[in-house]
Amino acid sequence: MKVIQVSNLWKKYREVEAVKGLSFEVEKGTVFSLLGPNGAGKTTAVEILIGVRKRTLGEVKVLEEDPEKFSKETKKKLAVVFQETAIFENLTPYEILKFFKKTYEGDGNIEEILKYLDLWDQRKSLAKHLSGGQRRKLLIGTILVHDPELIFLDEPTTSLDPASRRNIWKIIQDLRGRGKTIFLTTHYMEEAQELSDVVCIMNEGEIVTMGSVKEVIEKSGLKTIITAKLNGEEIRIETTRPDEVTAELLKKGAEEIDIRKPNLEDVFLHFTGRKLK
Ligand SMILES: Nc1ncnc2c1ncn2[C@@H]1O[C@H](COP(=O)(O)OP(=O)(O)OP(=O)(O)O)[C@@H](O)[C@H]1O
Ligand SMILES: [Mg+2]
Repeated sequence: MKVIQVSNLWKKYREVEAVKGLSFEVEKGTVFSLLGPNGAGKTTAVEILIGVRKRTLGEVKVLEEDPEKFSKETKKKLAVVFQETAIFENLTPYEILKFFKKTYEGDGNIEEILKYLDLWDQRKSLAKHLSGGQRRKLLIGTILVHDPELIFLDEPTTSLDPASRRNIWKIIQDLRGRGKTIFLTTHYMEEAQELSDVVCIMNEGEIVTMGSVKEVIEKSGLKTIITAKLNGEEIRIETTRPDEVTAELLKKGAEEIDIRKPNLEDVFLHFTGRKLK
């Protein structure tokens, strides 16, 4: 089942054409990652999908409705966590989740959610005293209380330490395992590579490549990268025939041979021509 269907979507702000003819679909129960350098048009696209921004042209269906005319029932089926979402600093995680549960008429079990997010020990601390990772988990908690079908996560792990980041990854994988659809934006290629069923790379308002991580790497035509030491010198070779090259290098007495397949970050840089920050 298609949860999101976008066909020839355009968005023009006064002079800026932010989105130029996007077409893609998102399947239920998958993680779809929208990637692209700063200013590529990702946030604009997300805002259109969640119904807070009007499009200039094109067709958009989210949960089978036009986001510009979402019904109350459909709004309840989707959740958005923005990176900068404010939380009530002087309430505790328990109180905040209770508030969201009431607002969204959700039936999630708050105690279970706090334990699941590993926030049980902090349930009585004021939100302003939580660490960055704990705040991020609490934000995810605010969507779990009402059990949405489609979840938009805008850079959910920016500025988190590696362990907290992996924690959030696990939650995302768990949600996917429960049949939820996740629409992710991130600047971390490792994260997108780890989590995504489909990645969609945008540049200057257009899709430059889309597919599974494996597919976009294959389609990019990027070659395997081999580095080695030969006669005391560092060498670097890009090849489509790594086995043959490695055999040849061994024969010549090369050492410290490292064979690296192109990864998502290589593909990103290849298509967007910019360095990641
Ligand atoms: N409200 C607005 N009015 C005018 N121009 C805008 C507006 N919002 C975004 N833009 C422009 O549209 C383009 C796309 O911006 P957008 O915020 O969608 O990019 P992004 O991919 O989310 O970037 P980032 O990775 O930095 O968050 C940019 O050139 C931006 O300056
Ligand atoms: Mg953005």
